[in-house]
Amino acid sequence: MAALPQPAPTKSEQAEKSPETERCDVGQLTFRTIQQEMDLDEVMRIEGEAFPSNEQANRERVSFRIQQAGDVFMGAFLGERMVAFVASTIAHDRLTQESLQNHDPQGNVLCLHSIAVEAARRRKGLGDRVLDYYLNHFLPAVLPAHYPNVREVRLIAKEHLSHFYQKHGFRDEGPSEVHFGEPVWRDFVRPFPLNT
Ligand SMILES: CC(C)(COP(=O)(O)OP(=O)(O)OC[C@H]1O[C@@H](n2cnc3c(N)ncnc32)[C@H](O)[C@@H]1OP(=O)(O)O)[C@@H](O)C(=O)NCCC(=O)NCCS
Repeated sequence: MAALPQPAPTKSEQAEKSPETERCDVGQLTFRTIQQEMDLDEVMRIEGEAFPSNEQANRERVSFRIQQAGDVFMGAFLGERMVAFVASTIAHDRLTQESLQNHDPQGNVLCLHSIAVEAARRRKGLGDRVLDYYLNHFLPAVLPAHYPNVREVRLIAKEHLSHFYQKHGFRDEGPSEVHFGEPVWRDFVRPFPLNT
């Protein structure tokens, strides 16, 4: 027998549920925290598709992020298949090359390391939906309880993605002091919560 369609949860209902235990439907997408044993291979698959080799995090680095900061590492799924993820750690005051290698639970800045959508599904609006969910539902459910000092979300990105991040409330602060390889990276910042 076909399942009856359920009413969509309101935004406040979604925010109240723990992302560790609940899958929240956004269309057919579901979101949950990444689990080391279940998800590491899939994260590495998408990481490998998403970034050139000199920008990729290796398995050890990704594993460290899941162990240390798994509660701010979110996967997006279509059915059982992971189609995107967002990885972050917490730092104090600034995003630097050094702070990106660590995780300071007392810190006041969430450093968003990567958002990646599997290659075949890009430019279809998925990145927008994943980042919107992460910033407006996932983080508000996790940060106040686990990382109460966080007041900003920071990231570095290449110039062509400036529009993508500005759509989600980030301010483009111009060229960054952080360098990976050739391209000039730019600093982006967004308050947390947004309207502060
Ligand atoms: C960046 C990324 C997450 C965007 O996801 P996506 O599903 O392709 O993005 P969407 O289809 O939701 O597009 C969202 C907006 O960003 C823009 N955009 C997306 N990818 C872009 C790109 N490569 N260059 C320029 N603009 C881009 C889109 O045009 C769209 O803007 P619009 O709504 O005004 O048309 C995805 O391309 C990806 O995984 N890239 C490889 C990894 C990476 O570079 N991650 C970001 C750095 S950490």
